[in-house]
Amino acid sequence: MKLPFAEAYRIKMVEPIKKSTKEERQQWLKEAKYNLFNLKSEQVFVDLLTDSGTGAMSDKQWSEMMLGDESYAGSSSYYKMKAAIKEITGFDYFLPTHQGRAAENVLFSATVKEGDIVPGNSHFDTTKGHIEFRKAHAIDCTIDEAFDTSIEHDFKGNLDLNKLEDVLKNNDVAKIPFIIVTVTCNTAGGQPVSMQNLKDVKALADKYNVKVIFDSARFAENAYFIKVREEGYADKTIREIVKEMFSYADGMTMSSKKDAIVNIGGFIATRHKEMFDEASVFSILYEGYLTYGGLSGRDMSALAQGLYEGTEFDFLENRIGQVEYLGAKLTEYGIPVQRPFGGHAIFVDALKFLPNIKREEFPAQTLAAELYLEAGVRGVEIGAILADRDPVTRENRYPELELLRLAIPRRTYTYNHMEYIAAALKNVYDRRMEITKGFKITHEAPVLRHFTVELDRV
Ligand code: F0G
Repeated sequence: MKLPFAEAYRIKMVEPIKKSTKEERQQWLKEAKYNLFNLKSEQVFVDLLTDSGTGAMSDKQWSEMMLGDESYAGSSSYYKMKAAIKEITGFDYFLPTHQGRAAENVLFSATVKEGDIVPGNSHFDTTKGHIEFRKAHAIDCTIDEAFDTSIEHDFKGNLDLNKLEDVLKNNDVAKIPFIIVTVTCNTAGGQPVSMQNLKDVKALADKYNVKVIFDSARFAENAYFIKVREEGYADKTIREIVKEMFSYADGMTMSSKKDAIVNIGGFIATRHKEMFDEASVFSILYEGYLTYGGLSGRDMSALAQGLYEGTEFDFLENRIGQVEYLGAKLTEYGIPVQRPFGGHAIFVDALKFLPNIKREEFPAQTLAAELYLEAGVRGVEIGAILADRDPVTRENRYPELELLRLAIPRRTYTYNHMEYIAAALKNVYDRRMEITKGFKITHEAPVLRHFTVELDRV
């Protein structure tokens, strides 16, 4: 008999979570102005809001916390992080930052100017926010297949080389500070980019003398998909694949809250001293001195250890296997989800799930609210609310996909939790035709409205 899948860890510490009644959840959601970010975590039973900073650190990472060196300058924790980054990515220069968007802020302050163009594959919202905040433009060059949730494609995070070349050819390359490739592509559904595509993007960038930056939050998950899906990589280790991936980049921004399995942390890394020097100025302005950049020594030590653990095959197989398990359950129940399943999350196609909700009434947000009311499961809208208004016309932007993201924290929940989530969503699916009214916005911020938006039932 083939042995079933089992986690390559056992649990040494647990944290109780509380169930609630439907009546309580109705009250809480109303008080939260129907924005799930406003819920208290104790009002949530299974929290799938994000896989960012919500993973469980290992015993070794907690040990590293105790070894943290809190010196203002030149701490041993900084050098541990530097060594881990060099070993795993190959980059010589790095700047710690307190999280991923801080890395974007520091690097983009040095490189992105008003009127610039930054092509990429469905930029993450903070990335896009940092580009548009500087009055520059993010141009999406993702392959068309990514926008149809039912198409099976191994690498839906890929850039369309024709779209990319059009951008490079038809613009002054002096206005293109870099191409940004997000691995895996969160916005397209946690979808990977193939090694071939990374190589081709780099070749095209070289042809036009433009730099390539990887938004690397989930680079190890991307490497796992290359190993199991792309020809020629089955026998390579995750670390070998990661090294090759980064060989096609000039630098990276990293939210370490994902694949480095820490609760806080990020960094910039690059092979170019001049990029490092330019960014250093803004690091000191915004984050802190070059050898801590907004992190405590203990955070940097745990992060270094997490980079090693996050790039182990056994860990990634467990992690992505659990996400797949949830995806397979939902598929078995007939629920429309993004195919193939993403690395860190299952993305439910809200337009197909709730055909009676108009786009102006935010179907994915409506579905997120229904799932919470059903079972205390908190997911997040990846749709028109997240997409913000067009910075020039101020019209709502309706992205091609309207998704409910169920992000799975690393090493945090069990298979029974996956069963629970799937059953809860099935119950909502069974009554989907009765859900006919969505939400309207009553208050919103000028950028990144997603986090603080207030809503009311239509
Ligand atoms: N890039 C990607 C691809 C991300 O997914 C995120 C964060 C960031 C950058 C910014 O990093 O949060 O550390 O500042 N994604 C989280 C999520 C918030 O829920 O997907 P950060």
